[in-house]
Amino acid sequence: MRKKIVAANWKMNMTQGEASAFVGTFLLEIGESRDVEVVLVPPFTAIAAVNAALEHAQHIKVGAQNMHWERSGAFTGEISPAMLRDLFVRYVVLGHSERRTLFGETDEIVNRKVRAAHEAMLRPILCVGESLEQRERGDVEKVLSTQLRGSLAGLSARELQETVIAYEPVWAIGTGKTATAEQAQEAHAFIRQVLGEISEEATADKIRIQYGGSVKPDNARTLMSQPDIDGALVGGASLDPRSFALIVQGAGEK
Ligand code: 13P
Repeated sequence: MRKKIVAANWKMNMTQGEASAFVGTFLLEIGESRDVEVVLVPPFTAIAAVNAALEHAQHIKVGAQNMHWERSGAFTGEISPAMLRDLFVRYVVLGHSERRTLFGETDEIVNRKVRAAHEAMLRPILCVGESLEQRERGDVEKVLSTQLRGSLAGLSARELQETVIAYEPVWAIGTGKTATAEQAQEAHAFIRQVLGEISEEATADKIRIQYGGSVKPDNARTLMSQPDIDGALVGGASLDPRSFALIVQGAGEK
C-alpha cells in the first residue's frame, strides 16, 4: 500500500511571517491524522521559519523547491544539498516545469540534481509533464518516457523507490484547467509502466506518483481516488491553509 503524499509548493510566495502564520492556522485545521504524508515546500528564505513553527508537529515534513548538484564551490546564488540537510529538509522538488521552461533545465541537469539529492539523503520529487502543444500532437507518452528515462538515469532500485514522481501537465498549472481524473489516471498508469521498464514492476508498484495542476479542494478527492494517483503537488491552493488542509483531508478519504 502506497501512503498518499500531498505537498504544498509555495513557489515564490510567502515571507517568514506569512509562512509562520500559515503553519499556525494549518495545524489547527489539519487535526491529528497521520494517514497522509504532508510536505510543506517554502521558498529557501522561509524554511527556517516553517521549521520553527512546526516544532511540535514533526510528522509534517519540509521540502525545498530546487538545489544545485555540486557539494560546494563558485556557484553564485545557488544552494547545495548539504545546505538543505542543514535546514532539516527531507524532500526537494526537481525539474518543475517552471525550472525547465524559464530557467533552461534539461533532463541531464535534472538527472544530476536527482542523483545528488539521493547522495545527500534527500528525497526528490521529480516533476514531469507535457505542454498543451505536445498533448495536441499526440506526444504525451513520448514526452513522459523521455523525461523519466533521462531524469532517473543511473538510480538504484532503492533510490527509485524513495523518489516521488509528480505528473504535472504544463497546461494545467496555474490555469484552473485540471486534467480529468481519467486523463490523469491514464498518464499515471503510463508513468508506472515506464518506471517498471526502467527497473522492475515490484519497484514501480512502490513508487508514489503525485498529480499536480490546478488541484483544489473540490477536485482533490476524485483525482486522488484513482488507482495510480498517490497524492498531489499543489501550487495556488496551497497558499491558503484552509484550502490546503481540505486537500490533505481529501487524500485521506477513500
Ligand atoms: P497550481 O496548483 O497553481 O496549478 O500549480 C501546480 C504546480 O505547479 C505545483 O508544483
